[in-house]
Amino acid sequence: MKKEYYEKAKQLLFQMTLQEKIGQLCQKNIGDTSGLGEEKNLINEDAYDKIRQGRIGLILQPAWNMIDDIREAQRVAVEESRLKVPLLVHSDIIHGFDTIFPLPIASACSFNTELIRRSAAISATEATVAGINVTHAPMLDIARDPRWGRIAEGAGEDAYLAGEIAKAYVKGFQEDNGRSECLSATLKHFAGYGAAEAGRDYNTCELGERTMRNTYLRPFKAGIDAGAKLVMAGFHTVDSVPMTANAKYLRKILRKEFTFEGVVISDWCAPYELIAHGIAENEREAALAAFQGGIDVEMCSDCYDRFLNELITAGLIDEKTLDAAVLRILMLKFECGIMEDPYLFMRKSGACELPPDHLQVAEKLADESIVLLKNENILPLKPGEKIIVTGSRCFDANLLGCWQSSRFITDTITYPQGLEKEGFHCHYASTAQELISDDCGTVIVFVGEAAENSGEACSEQDIRILEEDTELLRIAKENDKKTVCVVSSGRPMILTETEKYSDAIVYAWYLGHSAGKSLAGILSGRVNPSGKLCVTLPRDMGQIPIYYNHLPTGRPRSEADDNKFTSRYIDGSSEPLYPFGFGLSYSKFIYENLILDSDVITDVPVKASITVENQSDTAGKETVQLYVHDVCAQISRPVKELAAFQKVYLNGRERKTITFKITEEMLSYYHSDNTFCCDPGLFEIYIGGDSETKIFKSLRKI
Ligand code: BGC
Repeated sequence: MKKEYYEKAKQLLFQMTLQEKIGQLCQKNIGDTSGLGEEKNLINEDAYDKIRQGRIGLILQPAWNMIDDIREAQRVAVEESRLKVPLLVHSDIIHGFDTIFPLPIASACSFNTELIRRSAAISATEATVAGINVTHAPMLDIARDPRWGRIAEGAGEDAYLAGEIAKAYVKGFQEDNGRSECLSATLKHFAGYGAAEAGRDYNTCELGERTMRNTYLRPFKAGIDAGAKLVMAGFHTVDSVPMTANAKYLRKILRKEFTFEGVVISDWCAPYELIAHGIAENEREAALAAFQGGIDVEMCSDCYDRFLNELITAGLIDEKTLDAAVLRILMLKFECGIMEDPYLFMRKSGACELPPDHLQVAEKLADESIVLLKNENILPLKPGEKIIVTGSRCFDANLLGCWQSSRFITDTITYPQGLEKEGFHCHYASTAQELISDDCGTVIVFVGEAAENSGEACSEQDIRILEEDTELLRIAKENDKKTVCVVSSGRPMILTETEKYSDAIVYAWYLGHSAGKSLAGILSGRVNPSGKLCVTLPRDMGQIPIYYNHLPTGRPRSEADDNKFTSRYIDGSSEPLYPFGFGLSYSKFIYENLILDSDVITDVPVKASITVENQSDTAGKETVQLYVHDVCAQISRPVKELAAFQKVYLNGRERKTITFKITEEMLSYYHSDNTFCCDPGLFEIYIGGDSETKIFKSLRKI
């Protein structure tokens, strides 16, 4: 099939003028949601003219109601342009189109890649009906700094987990429902963007090549191997070179080493921003730097449209390199079916209501995304119980989170709706006085921050819970009430003070359409919590960045002594409040009897098994996590790194033996000469219910 497309794409390319070829690399934004969120249609006569002239090859639409504009733009392209090449339609379908699923950071906590795959497949089904061919997702940026608002859009701090989730998204978007290759996935933001200094968006990222290869690039490699069609370069600078012009990463590593054959797109106006980065004096130089760096498609700015022609004529850009980029776009257009039918899937009108089977997946994923962090024998609450409900986030209408423009926002089940439907008798208190004077014994305080406060351009300096919310918990506690703290947020927040006054803490993130129902299900015990943190929760802002899979230090801090000259703070703890992988359940899971079937690994994998017992009567799901530590390697390796996990279901009192296959690949890493292999020597294999598990066995590679 690919070969056939290649031949067809080549024939088309041969017929193109230079300007028409360049047009295939130019993307135009057709809608704008800036300002007050009101949509403006940006597709005007000037844009239609350019489409007629073949000077626009792709469009970007941010909202559902652009469908008529998309249809018209396609009509102009296929009826009024010389070669009748349809436009590729891009959009940011991050965690749903009509049906909204939990934010990516939340769904990553489910550790349920099958449900994530299904959510992506549903997004594809819904988005293609609106004429969309490409989504700018999944975001694969490892994020270890919760001040960075975009932490909401990714899978957290771990490269292995992010890689497994990348595969699930790519598979779901691109392969499901027999509609093969109709919504192409874009892996973004290549690479390292999550390491923005001081958590400030669009900022410099200072990352050594080992860290890039062994951590930040890993999810991209996984997504590419899963067949993703596009990669988006980030806005940021790595090692003083903006990614938009970074031939080392885009051409050498992405194209040559990872053998990525798909399309590389810039981020929004990023070629133009090369001027502000200080590596181009004007738009002509910006076009040259971006193209030479490895950008095929320019998103939204027009440096390519205005200057590539002249740069090629002047011999500064080789036309063969241009042809290769254009071929990649044309191939994608063939692969996604629009060359045969530019209105593919668009003829159907969109659903009038959210399909129940889609909502069901949204609900299941939301159920499993919630993380129970603390429970001093207070949860689950009794159905029908009277409860006081309060806190700054209690009445939020937007529980969908950032990056969504669903037509069905009002179908979200809010927290009060969810609680009442679950059978709770809610007394709403808006002041501490009302709270004290109510004789109910249990208080739920909704804390956190508004959905609009995370996502792009939402960096924050202070990520503590609002004082007034903590105060409500303190007053409730002092008045002998049982306190449940529910955190509604797109980022990890500092809960240290809040935790002191909370008998239970439930991290609810932003859960999408089923938010209130899923949360109420957890509180009532209808749903047994099974989420595990995909990020470390810091104890203090001064600890940031803090993540479990850090490198060892020559001066590790020891609990046993109080030696000042170790890697520690003199004014506070170095320990996180809650570690990566942590999350409680209403079941009680006990791990024992870790066995390796050999203590030596060769090219034959070693089997690791462990018994997990549910010592409660409550059935539940547990994510069994396997971590690896390379004790002595060619370079310093993380103290522990997730290498496998399995989410398992155990009935009450059930025991199960869980088995993992340890391969050499799981012990391998990129060495200083960039070879990927594992060293002879000692490894530690840890298994448990979170990253602080102490259960381990040694394994030697000879
Ligand atoms: C974001 C990208 C997004 C693009 C198009 C940019 O500002 O960084 O993630 O895909 O806008 O909406």
